[in-house]
Amino acid sequence: MTHRIALLSGDGVGPEVIAEARQVVDALGLPLEWTELPWGSAYYHEHGAMMPDDALDVLGAHDAVLMGAMGDPSVPDHVSLWGSILHIRQRLDLWANERPARLLAGIPCPLAGRGPADVDMLFVRENTEGEYAGVGGRAHRTLPSEVALETSVFTRTGVERVVRHAFVLAERRRGVLTSATKSNASRFGYVLWDEVVEEVAAEHPGVRVERVLVDALAARMVRDPGSLDVVVASNLFADILTDLAAAIQGGMGMAASANVAPGDAVPGLFEPVHGSAPDIAGQGVANPCGAIWSASLLLEHVGERDAAAAVMRALEDVCRDGPRTRDVGGSSSTREVGDAVVAALSG
Ligand code: NAI
Ligand code: MG
Repeated sequence: MTHRIALLSGDGVGPEVIAEARQVVDALGLPLEWTELPWGSAYYHEHGAMMPDDALDVLGAHDAVLMGAMGDPSVPDHVSLWGSILHIRQRLDLWANERPARLLAGIPCPLAGRGPADVDMLFVRENTEGEYAGVGGRAHRTLPSEVALETSVFTRTGVERVVRHAFVLAERRRGVLTSATKSNASRFGYVLWDEVVEEVAAEHPGVRVERVLVDALAARMVRDPGSLDVVVASNLFADILTDLAAAIQGGMGMAASANVAPGDAVPGLFEPVHGSAPDIAGQGVANPCGAIWSASLLLEHVGERDAAAAVMRALEDVCRDGPRTRDVGGSSSTREVGDAVVAALSG
């Protein structure tokens, strides 16, 4: 069966890192068909929207989506994000965002004295509601009385499915689940979240669950990352925590993610955690590791487990032996790293 993969290279460094992820996948010789979709900020300037009206139908006709990043200084970020990734996550109901934060051997860690044995976390981000529900409004614009409301939305269904999924993942790993909320200061949404965690915990006696306030968790990630296994958190909290996690695993260029709806037939969307990095775009220096790692997650999603593992092995070989891009202590180009991963595949 041929895997139909939609390719959303996007803006900035997106096309640069996705080109490498694609050449790595192509080198595997799998039955696979790419559909290149030219959506993003250039498309916006031409058509007045980041994606066409039938974008969700187009994506839905594929088995998976590989995405770079979208966003450009010429388009307001709330327009580009809501016109692309946030819209896709919500409308395809890709409710879980899995973000492995593992420090690979050879990649420098900013935490003194820590190495790969200390950093192996998996973040599960609620991906469709919470603080990014898109509910709110503004009134009395430009007047001193101007008001802006941004309402967090937590539904029992939404919290329960992502928490349950996190428990399942914890069961497959080291059996520890940390749930991050702020239910001392926020009295409604996160209190519901905590209650759901307690309820679902009863179904998974093999998992040790702990509730941690998000601010304390940020400190603990720096002080003692080895004490964390699976972390589940709301849309905003996990967004912030996973940039910190990315830094701990060597930088934004290293981090990968999977937007999925476990158990549903909808195509998963796989993307590096980083954005379009306009500050380094066009220079050929972006780190493609997060994009290549995301491609490995995609291959697993479409049932190509051996290929997914082979890509991870090759990526780990290259991180350990080089070449590396400058953000992780090397001086090589995006292309040189991609080429090296391809070479390591057959090595
Ligand atoms: P960013 O992740 O693009 O960049 C943050 C920092 O990390 C920059 O210093 C950048 O040079 C560095 N960096 C990022 N990717 C890298 C890579 N592959 N290799 C080496 N260094 C890398 O985040 P920023 O600057 O906040 O956002 C830039 C644009 O991207 C904005 O328009 C934002 O809205 C958009 N964005 C899009 C996302 C998406 O499409 N899923 C996610 C996050 C941001
Ligand atoms: Mg983010």
